[in-house]
Amino acid sequence: MLVDRVLSGMRPTGSLHLGHYHGVLKNWVEMQQKYECFFFVADWHALTTHYDTPQIIEQSVWDMVIDWLAVGVDPARATLFIQSRVPEHAELHLLLSMITPRGWLERVPTYKDQQEKLSEKDLGTYGFLGYPLLQSADILIYRATQVPVGEDQVPHIEFTREIARRFNHIYGRESGFEEKAKAAVKKLGGKKAKLYDELRTRYQEQGDDEALQSAKLLLDEQQSLSMSDRERLFGYLEGGGKMILFEPHAMLTAASKMPGLDGQKMSKSYNNTISLREDEVSVTKKIRTMPTDPARVRRTDVGNPEKCPVWQLHQVYSNEDTKHWVQQGCTSAGIGCIECKQPVIDAVLAEQKPMRERAQLYLDDPTLVRNIISDGCEKARKLAAETMRDVREAMGLIYS
Ligand code: TRP
Ligand code: SF4
Repeated sequence: MLVDRVLSGMRPTGSLHLGHYHGVLKNWVEMQQKYECFFFVADWHALTTHYDTPQIIEQSVWDMVIDWLAVGVDPARATLFIQSRVPEHAELHLLLSMITPRGWLERVPTYKDQQEKLSEKDLGTYGFLGYPLLQSADILIYRATQVPVGEDQVPHIEFTREIARRFNHIYGRESGFEEKAKAAVKKLGGKKAKLYDELRTRYQEQGDDEALQSAKLLLDEQQSLSMSDRERLFGYLEGGGKMILFEPHAMLTAASKMPGLDGQKMSKSYNNTISLREDEVSVTKKIRTMPTDPARVRRTDVGNPEKCPVWQLHQVYSNEDTKHWVQQGCTSAGIGCIECKQPVIDAVLAEQKPMRERAQLYLDDPTLVRNIISDGCEKARKLAAETMRDVREAMGLIYS
């Protein structure tokens, strides 16, 4: 298996709801079983749109981390940290800005889209224009290979790949690259050097992607290579100069179809959410008062589940038997709507129970959360510092 490093961030702009759970967090919990994962609170990204309401960000940061832990993100498997506690992200953002054509940023689709959507705010700022570049810095600084994102964010990953390519193109050249690369191949030792050469030839002459992957894997396993030699050998594989920044891949998370209380997609802006750790009384009340098929005015009127938001929640939470019971009961007026809602209420409460319990642990002892984040930030900073050393060197910023 190729060594994948997964990284994703979330903006702390309010409390998380079940839509976040079904759309994003469930996926994080799965990925932490398979990959080295880094998940972070993108507080600087939140400031690009919420610069005038920093209190919201401040309130949301710890709540969001508790929400992550509540759903089962496991600090023993994933590294959790806060963006602004790793100031190296800002340094990389600045350095990358030197080579970022303004037109590239202006053409990222979210730039205009968000300005239109959030028209009550002035998003004509320098910071907001730089949003995708800050995201690139987040990703490139950890040399992440996989970035789980929703569809709207795919252009940001594409943009990041272009920035990495441009950076390597401008700064990856060094005099005598070919000789230095060949010397580095020798350092791999007889057998491995031969294998590397074979795989490189196969890729370069026949475009054999498998050979490329195997060669990368081989390099990943070489503990004793210096960072510079590693970059040379990665770059030499694909023909260019040194590869200092790595191009990440978007890992597309299927769009969340989690319905809200009114049948539209669950979203804070529709005011139709159930928050992750909402108390039982409130959850019960919200579902009990959900609208149903408008044609079903009296208990004796038959209904049509297709026209009912409750049915959509059954799709998420109910098994075949229950769904059958709903279909039958609704279309024959055999069950009432309150009755129909009960299995949904039970299922949501059951889903939330372990979340509430885990969260309680952290609410009772906030230092646990602080320590998890401190450890995560420390680990993140170490990796970020390694990349920054290479970046500064490549850009001629090491004056000794
Ligand atoms: N822009 C992302 C969003 O709105 C959040 C984010 C910031 C992010 N930095 C990132 C996601 C790096 C993935 C990787 O959802
Ligand atoms: Fe909706 Fe169920 Fe009432 Fe039918 S019985 S209208 S599906 S809540």
